[in-house]
Amino acid sequence: MKKIIVANWKMNPKTAKEAKKLFKSVSGFAKKSKKTEIILALPFVYLSLFGKNKIKLCGQDVFYKEQGAYTGEISPAMLKSLGVNYVIVGHSERRWKCDENDELINKKIKAGLKAGLKVILAIGEKQRDGSEFWKFLKNQIKNDLSDVPKKLAKNLIIAYEPVWTIGTKKPIYPKDLLETAIFIRRVLLDIFDRKTALGAKILYGGSVEPENAEKFLEVEGISGLLVGGASLDAEKFKQIIQLTFDA
Ligand code: PGA
Repeated sequence: MKKIIVANWKMNPKTAKEAKKLFKSVSGFAKKSKKTEIILALPFVYLSLFGKNKIKLCGQDVFYKEQGAYTGEISPAMLKSLGVNYVIVGHSERRWKCDENDELINKKIKAGLKAGLKVILAIGEKQRDGSEFWKFLKNQIKNDLSDVPKKLAKNLIIAYEPVWTIGTKKPIYPKDLLETAIFIRRVLLDIFDRKTALGAKILYGGSVEPENAEKFLEVEGISGLLVGGASLDAEKFKQIIQLTFDA
C-alpha cells in the first residue's frame, strides 16, 4: 500500500513569496514520487495560490457550516472548490491553543466527510505516564467520531500525534507506537466494524525528522507520517519522502 506523507506547515512561512518558493521546491519532487501519497497542509491563504497543481492539498482546519454569517471561518465546500480534498481536524494546537473540544471537532469531522473531504483526524494524549492515557485516548476517539456514518469512515485517516512529542525533538518509541496503533484499531472496531478498523490508515506525527522517520515507517500498521517542522525545510522533507520508497 502507498505510504502517506503529510506536510503540516502550520502558520508558516511568513509571506506568500516564501510559500511559493517552498511549494516549488517540494512539489517538483513530490510530483515525481508516484509510490508515495504526498499531501501538503498549508495555511488557508496559501491554498488558493496552488489549487491548480497536481499536488494533493489539505486544509489545517475547517468549519462545520456550509456558508453564512461565520466571520473568519472556511467551509468544506470552499476548500473543495479550490481543489483541496483533505483537511486536518483536531490538531493538538487547535485543541490546546485554540480551545477546541471534542464536540466541535466531531461537528467538523462530520461536515468535512459529508462534503466529500478526506478527513485527517489528529488525536493524541498530553502525557504518557501511568495507564490513564489509554482511557483518555479511547474517550477522545469515541467522542470525536460519535455518530460518524460507517459508510463515510473510509475517508477518515487517523493521525496519532502524542502532544508531548510535537516540536519537542522527543518522538515516541517505535514499540509504543505499535502498541498504540493496535489500541486505536481496537477502538475503531468498537465504533465501526472489523473491515473499517482493519482498513483504517493510521499516521504518526511528532518530531519526525529524516534521521528517525524510517523506524516509524517500519512499524506495522502505520501508513505514513505527519511532518511539522521538518516539512518547512525542502531538503529534509525530500529525504523523508525518499525513505518511503523502500519502506
Ligand atoms: P512536528 O509537528 O513534526 O514539528 O513535531 C508535528 C505536527 O504538529 O503535526
